[in-house]
Amino acid sequence: MNSEIEIQNRNKIADLFPEIMKNGTFDVSILNKLLGVTTSHQNFGLLWQNKNSTIETLEKPSHAKLSICVDKSLNFETTQHILIEGDNLEAMKLLEKTHKEKIKVIYIDPPYNTGKDSVYGYSDKFKQTKSNSKKTENINLQPLFSKNTDSDALFHSSWLNMIYPRMVYAHKLLANNGIMFVSIDDNEAFNLKLLLDEIFGSQNFVGEFIWHNRTTPNDAGIGFATDHEFILIYAKNKTACKFKGIAKDFSGYKNPDNDSKGDWIADNPSAASGNESYRFAIENPFTGEIYYPPQGRYWAFSPKRVEEWAKTGKLVFPKVANKNFVLKKYKSELRSQLKPISSILTGILTSKGTKEMKELFEHGSPFKYPKPTDLIKILIEQTAENNDIVLDFFAGSGSTGHAVYAHNFEHKTNVQFVCIQINEEYSHADKTYNDQFKVVSDITHARLIKSAQLFDNLNQKTKNAEGLDFGFRFFKVEV
Ligand SMILES: C[S@@+](CC[C@H](N)C(=O)[O-])C[C@H]1O[C@@H](n2cnc3c(N)ncnc32)[C@H](O)[C@@H]1O
Repeated sequence: MNSEIEIQNRNKIADLFPEIMKNGTFDVSILNKLLGVTTSHQNFGLLWQNKNSTIETLEKPSHAKLSICVDKSLNFETTQHILIEGDNLEAMKLLEKTHKEKIKVIYIDPPYNTGKDSVYGYSDKFKQTKSNSKKTENINLQPLFSKNTDSDALFHSSWLNMIYPRMVYAHKLLANNGIMFVSIDDNEAFNLKLLLDEIFGSQNFVGEFIWHNRTTPNDAGIGFATDHEFILIYAKNKTACKFKGIAKDFSGYKNPDNDSKGDWIADNPSAASGNESYRFAIENPFTGEIYYPPQGRYWAFSPKRVEEWAKTGKLVFPKVANKNFVLKKYKSELRSQLKPISSILTGILTSKGTKEMKELFEHGSPFKYPKPTDLIKILIEQTAENNDIVLDFFAGSGSTGHAVYAHNFEHKTNVQFVCIQINEEYSHADKTYNDQFKVVSDITHARLIKSAQLFDNLNQKTKNAEGLDFGFRFFKVEV
């Protein structure tokens, strides 16, 4: 048994360094690393090349600054939304000054490290070369452009060195009741899980969504087709985070007998567990028939309920023999009209994201595989309240900002977004937009303008709500 003081001490350390909690115990090697203490052995955890130097660079202050561009902003004077152009690690280091523990929801869709580039228009590989492997700060900052193949010894290490410091800053920015969603596929999902366990503490792993994202999957040639992605979910503090849940299906509830208590459904009167006092006889007052619970089961209510419920009409006895009584479950008596959201997400396909972009950009989508706003909206709806801040630091085409506008329009709220997108060169195999967009953040900017105007117009036309915010302030990271 641990003493009160021991438990308090543990809680203090867990509050200060949640990243060292592992399966209910402390990983002292990470604490040693964070405190700069040298040790000769490692415990269980994910190891990769240059991990230690990546961790060491974490405390280096940023020399970058954020400069505001009024002319690239929309409704500059009144808006609360923010779009930042630049490297997300630098941006988050700067945001720590203003947004530490203020972000309620993080949704990110980082490069999956597929080793492919040209299809996306942005770099999806993170090669670390010999000359820069010592300068870990550079590794963190740049998606590098040389070929990174699966056989490369640094293939996964390079990606992990890129993502690790960014996740540490994500953790710093999250509010105590905040939650983070990370889209990922098989390439890095399982490495990422171990990495996030290290930063957030495995006790703050909430679970993952399995997102069924395509109906025409590529057959890998062995008769097996992957048609899902993952969304890993971590809370800053699992006991403080909450999902709202989704509406229950009430289609089975009807009121055929005009019951004054409204719609009802026939409930199962027996339960799998109970004790012998719940295996009593119930007599039908009309026919004298005796009912017992089925073999091995118990009534789901005590004997004194029978008379009471028969009087109120909740328990209805048939007037003819050989028929069971009915126990009514009223819709109005349900403790909640909601049920927990399932971890399997269906009905939203990747193609919907492309369709949305085509509706905004007249020559087709300038961005491959943007996430559908409906997917991101579910995450926002489940976890964000009015005025909460949603952060996406791998913003891509700006789907999260677009989803926040849509959410606010539908719910008449002012959830705010902070989107960060690097100004990496845009070069798409399909050359349609290569003249118009020089860097990927040009697309983010264009989409946020277009989607803001779309919802602003719709809001005015439908007289939906006053005071909604369809704008953004545009900042640049100056290094
Ligand atoms: C998978 S895409 C995100 C797509 C986005 N969810 C959408 O629906 O459009 C990843 C994005 O992260 C951006 N990115 C990569 N490294 C970055 C960094 N260091 N800072 C900011 N953005 C970065 C890439 O340019 C790319 O646009």
